[in-house]
Amino acid sequence: MKKLLSLLLAMAMAISLTACGGTEHQGSSAPSPAIDPVSGQETETPDIKGETEPPAAEDTEGTKILVVYFSWADNAILADDVDAVASPSVIPPGNVQQLAVWVQEETGGDLFAIRVTDPYPSDWDACLERANEERGSDARPELEEQVEDMDQYDTVFLGYPNWWYGVPMALLSFLEQNDLSGKDVYLFCSHGTGGLARSVEIITEAAPDANISDRIFDCYEEEAASSEEDIKAWVDELGFSAGDSVENEQAARQIQVRFDGGAVVYELNDSAAADALLAQLPLTINVEDYSTNEKIFYPPQALDTTAAPLAEGGAGVLAYYAPWGDVVMFYDGFGTNGSLYALGQAVSGEAWIGQMSGTVTVEMAE
Ligand SMILES: Cc1cc2nc3c(=O)[nH]c(=O)nc-3n(C[C@H](O)[C@H](O)[C@H](O)COP(=O)(O)O)c2cc1C
Repeated sequence: MKKLLSLLLAMAMAISLTACGGTEHQGSSAPSPAIDPVSGQETETPDIKGETEPPAAEDTEGTKILVVYFSWADNAILADDVDAVASPSVIPPGNVQQLAVWVQEETGGDLFAIRVTDPYPSDWDACLERANEERGSDARPELEEQVEDMDQYDTVFLGYPNWWYGVPMALLSFLEQNDLSGKDVYLFCSHGTGGLARSVEIITEAAPDANISDRIFDCYEEEAASSEEDIKAWVDELGFSAGDSVENEQAARQIQVRFDGGAVVYELNDSAAADALLAQLPLTINVEDYSTNEKIFYPPQALDTTAAPLAEGGAGVLAYYAPWGDVVMFYDGFGTNGSLYALGQAVSGEAWIGQMSGTVTVEMAE
């Protein structure tokens, strides 16, 4: 029975070949070799990258974005049953999961994973069989949790794998429980050789009043892991990232030193020493006075100063003095020193530095 299911699916997937990359939804074209996930035989998937000029970016300023996705890897029982099965098993991270994280990074939106209460087997054949049963009975698997306040979002990026020439039935549970009417919806999909198959039609039927864009990103399963650049470019072309992503990257390297009465926000440089400090946060730690221009604290672990730039400048500089292993917050001028390395620069609250005392919290900036 299992073999028959696999065979049927392999045949179906081979019939409907599709594109890889961000594109307007369209049929197949120039082929490139690929391996059928079920039969293991070489087949062909078209590669249409660069075929069409990207349409102009839409006006997306000020929209609130939700990135929703379903992926087998976080809907599977990842127990020790892996050795006991003959067919391939799920290996995290899932393809769609990876794509979703990149969309989230690029858009700065909120990420939501669709999870069923009754996870699927981690064995390929067993998962195919259960998914096929659910498809046959038009099931609506129960979902673990709901999106908090769907109304706040104007734009939804919806990611899914092709399951049985369509979508996992849990995607329909999601679409029926969340009203996407009037929202702009962008689809991204990872699949085997079956491509998008009927997935777009099925989603459109389930969310008839959503504005589903035909600028869909789809990706062959074996290319998912190396699709970061492509999917981020697709998000860019839709007009969602550019400035946002730069802001996100900067925000990801901002820390704050919070104390009774105020907070100082520092932008860290991209040195290994700054990375090592970030890796230790959050810290609740004692600040001490040193000389007449420094407030210092001792992070629990020494920082890696390989290739770190030397600190220079004046008030507002965040530095690391390697011989003592202390982080230095300057609130007045200082001289350079061959063992004093730059970690970053205050971007707000610089005036507070000289007044810090006692216990402070060092954490990611909000
Ligand atoms: C139950 C199941 C059914 C699938 N059905 C199809 C299919 O009909 N056509 C296809 O091209 N790929 C099919 N695939 C392959 C997945 O679409 C592909 O491996 C995808 O990249 C998986 O993404 P994920 O790792 O995020 O779940 C199926 C996979 C599973 C587990």
